[in-house]
Amino acid sequence: MDFNASWRDAVERYPYLVQLPPFKTKWLYEAYEAIFAQVGRVRTVLELGMYQGGSVVLWRESLRCRVIGIDLSVPPKTAELLERYVKESGSDNDLFCFWRTNQMDADALGEIVKKHVAETLDVVIDDASHLYAPTRRSFEILFPLLRPAGVYVIEDWTAGERPDFQSPEGPIARVVHELIDELGKAAWPIQSIEVRAACVSIFKNPAGSPVLRQLLPARNRVGESFNAQPNGSSALAIACSDASLESVVMFDKTPLVTTFGSAELLTAVVPQDLLSRAGEYEVFVRQNGIESNALRFVVEAK
Ligand SMILES: C[S@@+](CC[C@H](N)C(=O)[O-])C[C@H]1O[C@@H](n2cnc3c(N)ncnc32)[C@H](O)[C@@H]1O
Repeated sequence: MDFNASWRDAVERYPYLVQLPPFKTKWLYEAYEAIFAQVGRVRTVLELGMYQGGSVVLWRESLRCRVIGIDLSVPPKTAELLERYVKESGSDNDLFCFWRTNQMDADALGEIVKKHVAETLDVVIDDASHLYAPTRRSFEILFPLLRPAGVYVIEDWTAGERPDFQSPEGPIARVVHELIDELGKAAWPIQSIEVRAACVSIFKNPAGSPVLRQLLPARNRVGESFNAQPNGSSALAIACSDASLESVVMFDKTPLVTTFGSAELLTAVVPQDLLSRAGEYEVFVRQNGIESNALRFVVEAK
């Protein structure tokens, strides 16, 4: 995808667009080429931070998908040109601009996504405040609404190095550091985080990719059972997300008889012989060939 060429073509067709160029560098365009090549079919892009509106037009022109823009400011002078573009390009149903809307406003964002996303929310781009708190909050609101294998991009995550992007909570880069830490703890269904100088892209787990949160119980003593079953085996409950009927709980590489309670709860039967030696054992879920994160089950010596 050549975003420069898309923009040139757009300006040729709608010459007044020259007054609202996207605020994107060549490094961002390179990054987006790689990101969009990985994300599959894009039906809806939501961008936080529109400024003059150039970037939302660019996404609409180059991806031909639905585009939703959000910005805290009142409509800028270029808003009239944006409206003209929407009419002339026949984008009335595919380009929506929400001014005076804070990227931290969970109710407003939730309502906009509910009403205006076309089938799936595939890509979120945060090019708004470049401050820690609003960036973190938007991620918390919007990442759960992103489709599986969708991508959440945070632009200009190094802005905290500049004097005009200081805040008491610390720099925007703190969000990136936290998400990397939280990736280790499987706090979010994140498959990968790609860090570039121009932006960070956070890819959501593909569909059917479970994330384990807690084992209940998480420890036991050698030879003892827990939630004892009639045959002497033990029943292990697993709090998780995105489990399915295909989920199989693995205990130290041994598949267990698994019962699907809900996407958030599995139970598995642990035979007594697996609890006969002290040690730490990895528990994870296998689902349609995908493996979840692993949690540790401790069998203590007597
Ligand atoms: C860098 S500009 C966006 C540039 C645009 N995405 C482009 O590429 O052409 C940042 C915009 O974010 C908006 N903004 C700042 N803080 C915001 C917040 N808390 N919520 C929503 N928008 C915000 C500003 O009003 C500004 O228009």
